Amino acid sequence: MNALIRAHSGLRYVVLALLLAAIFTAYSNWQKGKQEDSKIYLFAFIATHTQLLIGLILYFLSPKVNFDLLGEKVFRFYSIEHVFMMIIAIVLITLGRIRSKKLTGADKHRTVLYFYAMALIIILVAIPWPFRNLGAGWF
Ligand code: HEM
Repeated sequence: MNALIRAHSGLRYVVLALLLAAIFTAYSNWQKGKQEDSKIYLFAFIATHTQLLIGLILYFLSPKVNFDLLGEKVFRFYSIEHVFMMIIAIVLITLGRIRSKKLTGADKHRTVLYFYAMALIIILVAIPWPFRNLGAGWF
């Protein structure tokens, strides 16, 4: 359980870095009118889905997920807010990936850019950063 939390916590930076790299690449490929897909889109997709998998396991194991204590900020955050926002973000990344696969040229990269950027914003909001006092640290 502890190892899973550490992995889930550290992987946030991998997810953020890959999403940022995918977004910059998508913008640049869109402007250049490039045809080919980029591997970085796939890597960002895989990293977020890995978080989904670890997150789902944690959801069943974590003492911070407790529906009898929703009146308390930390329990409400992990039981509802975190999982809800993260799943929306991961659905957006999945939609962006599937749609972009069916498109070509500028449309392909623009689709990745928009969907991944929306997901990134949601993920940034849904991470329990230390300054939000949700009991989680930087790593
Ligand atoms: C991109 C997606 C995600 C990111 C970046 C992310 C990030 C994080 C971070 C930084 C923590 C705090 C870890 C710590 O205490 O140091 C956390 C905790 C947690 N996350 Fe996620 N998460 C994601 C998706 C999910 C999903 C989809 C679920 C559930 C299905 C989930 C369930 C949990 C749970 C239950 C905890 C609390 C674990 C505990 O401390 O007992 N996460 N997450």
